[in-house]
Amino acid sequence: MNPNKALWEKGDFTRIAETMRESGEALVRGLSITKGLKILDLGCGDGTTALPAARLGADVLGVDIASNLVEEGNKRAREEGLTNCRFQEGDASNLHELKDQSFDWVVSIFGAMFAPKPFDVAKEMVRVTRPGGRIVMGNWIPNDPTLVAQILKISAAYSPPLPQRFISPMTWGIEGNVIERFTAAGVPKQSISFVRDTYSFNFPAPPSEFVDVFRKYYGPTMNAFEAAESNGRAGDLQKELQALFSRENRSSSKNVTSIPATFLRVTVALNEPVISALGH
Ligand SMILES: C[S@@+](CC[C@H](N)C(=O)[O-])C[C@H]1O[C@@H](n2cnc3c(N)ncnc32)[C@H](O)[C@@H]1O
Repeated sequence: MNPNKALWEKGDFTRIAETMRESGEALVRGLSITKGLKILDLGCGDGTTALPAARLGADVLGVDIASNLVEEGNKRAREEGLTNCRFQEGDASNLHELKDQSFDWVVSIFGAMFAPKPFDVAKEMVRVTRPGGRIVMGNWIPNDPTLVAQILKISAAYSPPLPQRFISPMTWGIEGNVIERFTAAGVPKQSISFVRDTYSFNFPAPPSEFVDVFRKYYGPTMNAFEAAESNGRAGDLQKELQALFSRENRSSSKNVTSIPATFLRVTVALNEPVISALGH
């Protein structure tokens, strides 16, 4: 099985996504979505950004590699009666089932960054966006001191070494890499812009219980705990994560955890047709 698919199907990202809904909605509200806009939400999970976009009238297709999250997204859309929002399985590195220039916007919030072959991912996002359209990515930033970058860093330190040619998803949080990938897909450098933004995680219990959610349901942390258990280091990993979650918690209530995390927001404005990048 594709290891990237296995990683995300291993847990249940919905349990984490439930703590990210407010920021997902706020991000989408800030995008000036208009009725009928065709949006591809890539690496959409169970629809944290896809559903709010559909509520604003966009025509949304969510694509994700994890079948359990696609199923959950379709269920959530159905339960809300959102007939303009559907989810299907697909790989951001190869969107062969989607036609060239078939979306006004491609949105990918902490999604496509996790796909392998980043140059292919950039090329595919550009290919399926129409000229005049827009790509919006949210990417975690390597070595950033806030929550997610640190969870991934700590988890990696307890996990088996990665294959030599593995390109870290976190490289999507480095502006130079993003520019390199999109310019290779035919986008002029001046069409790519960056801002630092914040996502908040809100969980209705203390930080230590939030760590347990990551331990049980978040693929990268599950793998780190499996490796740590096999060499007797699971207790150290638990302690490091608990210290991180407590340090980053901004809630003054004992029974609520509220953690802001910084990310790099990338906007690519496709002003010109990028025919040369389509490869035909
Ligand atoms: C951190 S979650 C974010 C999900 C969602 N965008 C959100 O904001 O809740 C990462 C998502 O990327 C998906 N993903 C990972 N690799 C992928 C790939 N190659 N193609 C499509 N989706 C992928 C995972 O299945 C997972 O749903």
